[in-house]
Amino acid sequence: MNALAIIGGSGLTRLPGFQITGESSADTPYGPASTPVVKGLMSGRELLFLARHGDPHRIPPHRVNYRANLWALKQAGADAVLAVNAVGGIHPAMGVGHFCVPHQLVDYTWGRSSTFFEDDLQQVTHIDFTHPYDEGLRQRVIGVLARLGMAHSAYGVYGATQGPRLETAAEISLLERDGCDIVGMTGMPEAALARELDLAYASLSLVVNPAAGKGQGLITMEAIEQVMQQGMAQARTVISQLVAA
Ligand code: HPA
Repeated sequence: MNALAIIGGSGLTRLPGFQITGESSADTPYGPASTPVVKGLMSGRELLFLARHGDPHRIPPHRVNYRANLWALKQAGADAVLAVNAVGGIHPAMGVGHFCVPHQLVDYTWGRSSTFFEDDLQQVTHIDFTHPYDEGLRQRVIGVLARLGMAHSAYGVYGATQGPRLETAAEISLLERDGCDIVGMTGMPEAALARELDLAYASLSLVVNPAAGKGQGLITMEAIEQVMQQGMAQARTVISQLVAA
């Protein structure tokens, strides 16, 4: 089976309209995935779904077993993965509620298991990661956003931070000088692991707050939750259109 898989992030632990037909084990050689991979049909098409932070949401970004998640999806038959990410907006165009389909990333995470190529190696492997996101999948997502008339950016640089705390204003200035447009905690090592497994990977990033120092006052979880509810409902619409297209 060649199927599209969705990795749901914060605010997206389930997919309504998803007719569940089965579940495959969360066990992998790398430990347990965040949840079993849920298999099902959406708009009559095969779809796989995994909730990155578990269901219910309980695994923080730095404790997600990214290797197990990607491995479980590959084992379940995925050949493409659309990751849904909640992010902070850095560039002025990245306002709250805006979608970004990033074309590049910068990795600031540390101490995460970030490769499948480390034990029992026949040879040392360095994947090409010049373009971290799959252009074909990116264009499909951008096409759906455009057809739906949703505010979005077809380009953007995703800065992946360690978390779980949010950044300082100085850190966000640094990321901005580095060329980052959005900031999130889950974009890496997910994207690199997908490439190692030869999975086409793209991100649908929803801006849920102005990054530290970019808005008025402090960043509160209440404000984020409010944006998340409506934004993730839109993300679900994007997913169903993407599958149907
Ligand atoms: N920073 C990092 N990760 C995030 C943010 C942020 O401002 N908002 C949502 N995820």
